[in-house]
Amino acid sequence: MEKYNPYSLEGKTIFVTGASSGIGKCTAIEASKLGATLVITARDELRLQETFNSLEGKDSREHKLIIADLTNEAQMSALLENLPQIDGVVLCAGKGLTLPIQFASRDKFDDIFNVNFFAPVELLRLLFKKKKLNKESSAVLLASLGGTQIFSGGNGIYGASKAALNTVMKFAAKEFASRKVRVNSICPGMVDTPLIHRGTVSEEQLEEDKKRYPLGRYGRPEDIAYAAIYLLSDASSWVTGQSMILDGGISIR
Ligand SMILES: NC(=O)c1ccc[n+]([C@@H]2O[C@H](COP(=O)([O-])OP(=O)(O)OC[C@H]3O[C@@H](n4cnc5c(N)ncnc54)[C@H](OP(=O)(O)O)[C@@H]3O)[C@@H](O)[C@H]2O)c1
Repeated sequence: MEKYNPYSLEGKTIFVTGASSGIGKCTAIEASKLGATLVITARDELRLQETFNSLEGKDSREHKLIIADLTNEAQMSALLENLPQIDGVVLCAGKGLTLPIQFASRDKFDDIFNVNFFAPVELLRLLFKKKKLNKESSAVLLASLGGTQIFSGGNGIYGASKAALNTVMKFAAKEFASRKVRVNSICPGMVDTPLIHRGTVSEEQLEEDKKRYPLGRYGRPEDIAYAAIYLLSDASSWVTGQSMILDGGISIR
């Protein structure tokens, strides 16, 4: 007898962007453990191959790896051509920026918006329009707590890109409901991935910042992956148009 599990992804094909690192990598691996067939993408072939090698079920399922820069139109088209029909997508690819508004420029906005907003929106739009998303499938967008409120300094440009993403998410949820396709976003506080160690914030500042979290720590990639899995699974089949905040309590501090 099959084990009872309402969060199972058995029989579903799930597409994950940003799968070479952090939240996307963890989500892909965890989803494979719950029975999904994975299509993973990112730019860095070596790191993406590492994720691929860690997927479960390689003997019985046809996982797929596609290299693509999502800010490149031709590569985005090629990616869509090579993509099979999917039952769920987690749009994780993104980048961070901590920069006070007074030092902002149109170039800085473009750089962040191209990856964090235009790429996932274009992908979501084309997945629906080209009917790559099966009926009753689920799309999960990685936004940020910074797109809903000010919880750490210098995140104006980044936060704006995620706020814009959250808005499109709600409109898409309403429009895509005609095919029973659900669209939701996850808004994490700080999660310990390579992204937060790459910027201008020092390790000492990060250690100090962690102390502000009521639950006493930053998020782990798994904390976010499990929420994405809930949103991909049939357990959330009545949930659409929602932003799920996961933040160790920082927003109720
Ligand atoms: N970590 C946090 O504290 C936090 C908090 C809130 C929200 N988020 C959001 O969560 C998502 C995942 O972040 P993370 O922390 O896991 O970051 P990460 O470890 O830096 O991973 C980012 C991923 O995005 C991919 N990527 C970046 N630019 C790309 C491009 N032009 N084309 C294709 N792929 C691209 C990277 O792959 P390649 O370099 O191989 O292309 C990588 O796999 C992001 O959208 C981020 O904004 C993170």
